[in-house]
Amino acid sequence: MGHPLTSGRLALGTASAAFQIEGASDRDGRGESIWDVFCRRPGAIRDGGDGVRACESYDRLDDDVALVAGLGAQWYRFSIAWPRVVPEGTGRVEARGLDYYDRLVDALLAAGVQPTATLYHWDLPQPLEDAGGWLSRDTAVAFAEYGALVHARLGDRVRLWASHNEPWCAAYLGYAAGVHAPGRREGGRAHVAAHHLNLGHGLLRQALPDAVGLGIVHNLAPVWAEGEESRDVADRVDAIRNRVWLDPLVDGAYDDVLLDVAPVLADPAVVRDGDLELIRGSADWLGVNYYTPVRPAASAAGGAARPAHTEGEAYPGAGELDLVVREPRTDIGWEIDASGLEELLVETHRRTGLPLVVTENGAACADDAIDADGVVDDQDRIAYLRDHLAATRRAVEAGADVRGYLVWTLMDNFEWAEGYTKTFGLVRVDRGHDELPRVPKASYRWFAEEIARSTDGQG
Ligand code: FCB
Repeated sequence: MGHPLTSGRLALGTASAAFQIEGASDRDGRGESIWDVFCRRPGAIRDGGDGVRACESYDRLDDDVALVAGLGAQWYRFSIAWPRVVPEGTGRVEARGLDYYDRLVDALLAAGVQPTATLYHWDLPQPLEDAGGWLSRDTAVAFAEYGALVHARLGDRVRLWASHNEPWCAAYLGYAAGVHAPGRREGGRAHVAAHHLNLGHGLLRQALPDAVGLGIVHNLAPVWAEGEESRDVADRVDAIRNRVWLDPLVDGAYDDVLLDVAPVLADPAVVRDGDLELIRGSADWLGVNYYTPVRPAASAAGGAARPAHTEGEAYPGAGELDLVVREPRTDIGWEIDASGLEELLVETHRRTGLPLVVTENGAACADDAIDADGVVDDQDRIAYLRDHLAATRRAVEAGADVRGYLVWTLMDNFEWAEGYTKTFGLVRVDRGHDELPRVPKASYRWFAEEIARSTDGQG
């Protein structure tokens, strides 16, 4: 059986990630992850939230699969928590962790939904962080071993695999800006983490059978310079946001602009002989997560006048810059521009030649309140999704080979540094009630109708 990308149609579905929904963080032998530890750091999470309960999906597998099925979703993208399966990161395998994902996969298949598994959605086992985290080459080796053993268990039923989710966030928000776990501010060393994430993907490809449909999910972004004087800084931002991932994959190289920004990537002790060859051609498909464009502006303020912490720190070596955010914006402050998705898909397909999947797209909205009739009338989210789905279809017409579009996310969940303050779900999770009731929003019904129309061939 081939992987589902061979279907040639735009599959619709939704996505989630282990740490954001599972809870049960100390159950069934699960080890600790860098996000468990980071959440305990005072001030790290906006509302002081954590993943101890999250949405309790670990205990409500059947309810949540029923929500996916009720949508009529063709695909459901979930992630596997590395510390549930290999609690110390290497060595001992926890059978109960694997059993959980086994049950999840079977439940999805029984409901007629294709499971899509992401192996790394940011929850690195803490013992590996203690040994250097993604700054250590050993983490890449451990990742490939972990991935291969998960595949050995689920690969007979899961046809579509992703190695990493948004390694840009793992490397640069985690090790440069310090706003995501592990919360380190190592400046240009973060480029080493990026290389090791690339290497981990390449090593995993080598460890899996050839026939496996293995992809990688990036939050690539259209990078739009704010005026002529920002062209150079925008090019450097583009190198750190997009090219650091796509160039090794396509060309087996890091480009000159990137090497200038990140001299450490020219160090043969970091990028060793054979690494780039291993990474080249190592993906069968590419996941694109899109929310917003990136608009760099050469900073007028100059170093000393700038606040100590700026988003520019997530682009180490790019120089002084501001990231301009235009209106309109979603509730998380991200600019809304669906044309960015169309441009990104067309350009990324041209650049890579790979089949693409929009593995995440969605919006945090302020109109998520529940009214007196128990209804969540989230028209802002519906408008956002409708426009972005239309942009995806335009990209397909323009020649981009896009095979899937997955809404982020099934239900309101733990939104990383924002805690529970930002909601992206098609389903509301009512945190005011101890039982965390699930309430499908208007957007859930809209998307269910959209899926029904598209599978009827009328869409
Ligand atoms: C992406 C993450 C996902 C979710 C959305 C809003 O960066 O992959 O887990 O938090 O943003």
